[in-house]
Amino acid sequence: MRILITGGAGFIGAQIGLALKRDMPGASVIALDKLRRRGSELALPRLRAGGVGFLHGDVRSPDDIAAAGPVDVLVECSAEPSVHAGYADQPGYVVQTNLTGLVNCLDHLRRHGGDLVFLSTSRVYPIAALRALPLHAEETRFALRDGACGTGWSPAGITEAFPLAGSRSLYGATKLAAELLIEEYAALYGLRGIVNRCGVVAGPWQMGKVDQGFLSLWLARHVYGGPLAYSGFDGTGRQVRDVLHVADLCELVAAQIAAPQDHAGLACNVGGGPDRSVSLTELTALCRRTTGRSLNIGADPATRAADIPYYVTDGAALAARSAWRPRRGVQELLDDMHRWLVDQRHLLEPVFAA
Ligand SMILES: NC(=O)c1ccc[n+]([C@@H]2O[C@H](COP(=O)([O-])OP(=O)(O)OC[C@H]3O[C@@H](n4cnc5c(N)ncnc54)[C@H](O)[C@@H]3O)[C@@H](O)[C@H]2O)c1
Repeated sequence: MRILITGGAGFIGAQIGLALKRDMPGASVIALDKLRRRGSELALPRLRAGGVGFLHGDVRSPDDIAAAGPVDVLVECSAEPSVHAGYADQPGYVVQTNLTGLVNCLDHLRRHGGDLVFLSTSRVYPIAALRALPLHAEETRFALRDGACGTGWSPAGITEAFPLAGSRSLYGATKLAAELLIEEYAALYGLRGIVNRCGVVAGPWQMGKVDQGFLSLWLARHVYGGPLAYSGFDGTGRQVRDVLHVADLCELVAAQIAAPQDHAGLACNVGGGPDRSVSLTELTALCRRTTGRSLNIGADPATRAADIPYYVTDGAALAARSAWRPRRGVQELLDDMHRWLVDQRHLLEPVFAA
């Protein structure tokens, strides 16, 4: 089996590539990446040591993808992954990488065959509708009113039935448009496409920044020092997300590659669910406990255009078609990341300081 991971030197792409090669030593696994994300270059020795090939390439270029040759599976993990992309800068890069890049991947598969696994996002759901959920402020987090539910949401989280009308950020729009194109390539050309609408994913080797990867940034600041602020929603840190350990996501992708017919054709929400949800304030307490270090967290009350106060995954649709379940909890995730930040300090401190 030949497997191409686009964005394969990124946080998720590298973990998936290494896990697939570890579990399928006979497979040929190739990572293609432009090394745009600061810190992705640190994946290269890990990929080499794990037997994963590397191609320096840009998904915006069909020729770069063609250089990988025919594959049985393409796992598309390349992206400008920030929901804030395009608000203060030009929209070109996020649109061309996330959407044109995906079209180039689809076309490669149309010509040569092969299945697609696509990492979409919970950010396909519109900002205004998520902000309109009836939340109240508990001591450490926003929470839904007891018993409240509506179309596509309940205390179990957000389902795929959540209404899609409304603006969702350029990032979310490129991902939703990509999902639509995957559906069209399936209908026109028989492409088998698997779409994972991921919520927050975290784990070792995530190079968190203020605009993306908050969990690793939060923990890294507790280990190395540096500023942190609760931003948006009055700066109280009550916004909530569920989180998924990247190792759990790797297990899902492996299961999808092994049984693509069970997963193709329907976009599924993928996340940790209510049991793995955490607010920023709660995350601060967990980081203190994990690292033994206490930081003063600032407050930046202004809410940015793409901020949402609450997102928790309802994973029932995926659970109905697969035996996969998230296995690792939030504390295990933080312990794994803490070990990584301490062990690799010499490599990571400059990346997180940038
Ligand atoms: N991390 C999360 O919480 C999360 C949540 C939902 C969805 N996702 C999706 O998962 C995928 C992987 O995200 P990640 O967290 O690993 O992000 P990441 O930034 O760590 O990885 C993306 C990789 O893509 C590469 N890249 C960027 N532009 C490229 C281009 N034009 N050509 C080739 N490579 C390019 C970057 O260098 C980077 O290595 C993305 O599609 C993202 O939208 C991530």
